[in-house]
Amino acid sequence: MFVVITLLIVLTIIIYINFIGKYNEKYWKKRGVKLYEDNKILGIYWKLLTKNRALFLQLSDIYKQYAGDPAVGVASLFTPTLYVIDPENVHHVMHTDFPAFNHRGFIVNEDDPLSDSILQMNGVRWKLMRQNMTPLFTSAKLKNMFYIIEKSSRDFVEYLKQNPDKLKGDTYNTLTIFCCKAIGATVFGIDTKPEIISPFFKAIRDSFRPSLWNSTRYTIMMASPRLFTLLRLKQLATFKTFFINAIKQILRRREQENSRKYDFADICVSIQQRGMMTDQDTGYELVPTDELLAAQGFFFFSAGVEPIATAIFSVLIQLGKHLDILQRVQLEIDEIYRKYDGQISYDAIIETEYLDKVINESLRLHTPINFIIRHCERESVLPVGNIKVEKGTKLYLPIRDFHLDPKYFPNPHTFDPERNLIQHGSETVYIPFGKGPRGCIGVRYARLQMKTALVHLLQHFNVKTITNEKQPSFICDIFQLRFKNIDVKLSARI
Ligand code: HEM
Ligand SMILES: *[C@@H]1O[C@H](CO)[C@@H](O)[C@H](O)[C@H]1NC(C)=O
Ligand SMILES: *[C@@H]1O[C@H](CO)[C@@H](O)[C@H](O)[C@H]1NC(C)=O
Repeated sequence: MFVVITLLIVLTIIIYINFIGKYNEKYWKKRGVKLYEDNKILGIYWKLLTKNRALFLQLSDIYKQYAGDPAVGVASLFTPTLYVIDPENVHHVMHTDFPAFNHRGFIVNEDDPLSDSILQMNGVRWKLMRQNMTPLFTSAKLKNMFYIIEKSSRDFVEYLKQNPDKLKGDTYNTLTIFCCKAIGATVFGIDTKPEIISPFFKAIRDSFRPSLWNSTRYTIMMASPRLFTLLRLKQLATFKTFFINAIKQILRRREQENSRKYDFADICVSIQQRGMMTDQDTGYELVPTDELLAAQGFFFFSAGVEPIATAIFSVLIQLGKHLDILQRVQLEIDEIYRKYDGQISYDAIIETEYLDKVINESLRLHTPINFIIRHCERESVLPVGNIKVEKGTKLYLPIRDFHLDPKYFPNPHTFDPERNLIQHGSETVYIPFGKGPRGCIGVRYARLQMKTALVHLLQHFNVKTITNEKQPSFICDIFQLRFKNIDVKLSARI
């Protein structure tokens, strides 16, 4: 009897799984789109969960295997999911028909206040929050806060000089600690000594540590949003008490001080003093509570740590391999130092054109965020292939795969700062910060922070890349690029 029941259950499961596969095949066939063969039930999530294989590597497999197709279906239980490959279609999703694709489709359950950030918000709430945070990132604001960015870079160099053991390796880790200090100072006015590993750093680092559970939770959110809501899964609940309390303290202290620091905390205080945030078009109102502002701060913090550290690290990797380029960068920096008498101002940073090219090319070759996600809010038709996209569809869009496509960038694995990166007009395929209304809000800050750190670092140090492998390998992660088996050594310039 027991054997029969077990057999029946197994049989039912097999038939059901088969059914999901057939359903997905049919669904995409009807729309003239191929389904990614590798797994017709869980697509790219299958190897993420069972083989610990980074999502972006699997998207790359698809990109190469279906190079001629405008978009490819990816199984995700019963949630229609599409990897959009044609640049015109990508532009349609990110820009032309923005109202249809203005979501990422992330879900924030109750009791998970830190996840309620611009990244994950939707609709009019997102628009309102984004509008209110945009003033933080204008050129004028960045100019005002440049003194903080500059000082943290100078302190970092000083710290490295006094701790020569930090020059020998584990440079990515050292850079993340530095970036955390820098963003903490610029965003919140938190001033810590470089050698102190702050509790903020611990929270940020732990929250984005890849793990099987994190991958599972992400898979559930993408493949079965309903189950994600039903199970009330939370993303950042562990850090809620610590971070919200810290923000509360910062804001209350700032309210009492009269001096302006031109940072995020200032903006928060003035938003709260104005009372309600109101959307002009719809009249929708949102209360800027400490919790809501803490969520924005938490995300700015995390976006400012690992992505920027990875971006700086990949520049150093390239310079440590191409000594001629390193010398040219250093020559440019030396000239700027001479011209400005060692006082590195905002204008001085803007003048480093060759370094800018080096950064741009490095962001192409190893972009910190590998792909983009959108969620369809109302039916739309992708122009190339005439593909009808239904409400509720999840879309993946390439960043890294565009950047490494020889069709757009000949010899894509060659590091060449003289490349013309922006050659495809509005359908540009060079998008390290995404594009359109949901593109990265922090792009100017990120570039300024990177450049300032690199100017100071390369003025004082030479770099050498150490690796045992021809091609870098990567740690399994969902969104971010994380290098494995590669390091950079610094040595004092004489
Ligand atoms: C090198 C560093 C960084 C890279 C490569 C990067 C890249 C990206 C990318 C690719 C997106 C998605 C864009 C899209 O969906 O079209 C994004 C979104 C975002 N980034 Fe960044 N980012 C960086 C640093 C930062 C920093 C420092 C901040 C804030 C202080 C920031 C804040 C945001 C926000 C708030 C969003 C969501 C925007 C929205 O949905 O409206 N990023 N970023
Ligand atoms: C991801 O997993 C690690 C290790 O299990 C955990 O510490 C971290 O909090 C998780 N990330 C999130 C966002 O919850
Ligand atoms: C680097 O890229 C940015 C953004 O794509 C662009 O505005 C800038 O002009 C580029 N810099 C150089 C020196 O080409």
